Amino acid sequence: MEDYDREFLDYMRTKYKITLGGATNGQESQIITFAVAWDVWKQAKKVYSRDREASISKFMSNDHSRLDYIFQEFRKSGTVEEAKPLFLEFESGMNRHIGWEEDILFPLARQKLGEDSAMIDELLTQHARIKEDMKRISAVLGARSPNMEEDLEQLLMGHDRMEEEGIYPWIDEYISDDVRKEALSKMR
Ligand SMILES: [Fe+2]
Ligand SMILES: [Fe+2]
Repeated sequence: MEDYDREFLDYMRTKYKITLGGATNGQESQIITFAVAWDVWKQAKKVYSRDREASISKFMSNDHSRLDYIFQEFRKSGTVEEAKPLFLEFESGMNRHIGWEEDILFPLARQKLGEDSAMIDELLTQHARIKEDMKRISAVLGARSPNMEEDLEQLLMGHDRMEEEGIYPWIDEYISDDVRKEALSKMR
């Protein structure tokens, strides 16, 4: 038996309405959902515990890796029972990540760059496309669309690179330690 942590069990109960007892005695689809979610959870914890306080760059790049891992698992998944929890996890994580950027990080960058920043405008346009793609993929989850999934993967690859090589290191260089700590404490 896996050593599930309390936080994970609470999360499963609130988010999927599945308890450990229910899953082990229940239908196969619940057992699969539970097992897949646990895999993702362990990976997320590993990534999160590493270098959280180091820099905006490290923290946000780690979140890219975490989301990328979940998206890859989703792409590899077969049945809709496997695919659905993975996609939901990816979608909510991506929305949260984009929220951190738009509400916390980009405003910090704009303080220095001024209101006109072509790079930030481009990243915001891409965020809108990422959200649009997620909606389209979510709408056909039962049938799947490898083309749409491939498009989103390509979009994210370029987007993440632009942030990891551009805006994140730039923000780290410009902000003070106190501002960085405060920003990171809001990203939960
Ligand atoms: Fe972004
Ligand atoms: Fe990002």
